[in-house]
Amino acid sequence: MFEINGHTKQLAILGYPVEHSFSPQMHNFISEKMGLNYVYTALEVSPDKLKDAIEGIRAMKFAGVNITAPHKYEVMKYIDEISEQARKFGSVNTVVNKCGKLVGYNTDADGFYRSLLHEGIEIKDRDVLIIGAGGASKPVCVLFSQIGAKSITLVNRTKEKAEELAEYIHTVCGYKISTTHCRNHYDVVINTTSAGMYPQLEECPLDDMSFIDKKTAVADMIYNPSETVFLKRAKKAGAKTINGLGMLIYQGIIAYELFTNIKLPENIFETVTKEVFSK
Ligand code: ATR
Repeated sequence: MFEINGHTKQLAILGYPVEHSFSPQMHNFISEKMGLNYVYTALEVSPDKLKDAIEGIRAMKFAGVNITAPHKYEVMKYIDEISEQARKFGSVNTVVNKCGKLVGYNTDADGFYRSLLHEGIEIKDRDVLIIGAGGASKPVCVLFSQIGAKSITLVNRTKEKAEELAEYIHTVCGYKISTTHCRNHYDVVINTTSAGMYPQLEECPLDDMSFIDKKTAVADMIYNPSETVFLKRAKKAGAKTINGLGMLIYQGIIAYELFTNIKLPENIFETVTKEVFSK
């Protein structure tokens, strides 16, 4: 264990609830590995105390904080600056204290994209199906339209929400997303919904998965369970599958780099995967 002393810089995750977060283990592991004097804790902050908590972060000169549910939208009201990309994503998961100025970023979509690339799954020039139109979907839709997916089809249990998000992407990114699922092949299929996440283990965001075959890459943002019903069915159909653990790790790595302004070594992903997440 590294030594905590008078010079130790503070980092934390703010959420409600927050006790199940893996971020403290991950960030403290990286600090120890890199020999950097930071400590990262989990702080439970109820929605009515978020403003006070952010003022506390400022007052106590935390180096930065990660923000998780349900605060990713509300926090935008209480910080000083928001990166252009986080503004487009509509949410903030990382706040960096830059000499007293609190600057918001969102590393979720980049983390997800890097986890796909790590598995050899490209988005540029590919036909992509995205399931879900909630807070997890929006940053991915923005980023994938910027990257230049060949086509993006967005489906959601409540179709109006998919249409609303498609409209938003058209306005903000000038990219036309289809909300009608009618292709018989997609290169990449992504679940951004909470269907299948613990404890709703039996749920699956799609009924008909007959269009998935061995040429499809299927990703789920869920990492608990490590294989959702959705991924099980995709794997059975021959697809390459990937869960949300890589996204969790990469969004943390990118956040760590923002907090410390240090570029982590390429192999940090493998090291964290193996040493923090291998059961
Ligand atoms: P947030 O914005 O906080 O991420 P949300 O707005 O509840 O959360 O979005 C969750 C997404 O998961 C939505 O797209 C939701 O579909 P609806 O818009 O129809 O609510 C989707 N979702 C949640 N549970 C689902 C289920 N059992 N089957 C299919 N989609 C589901």
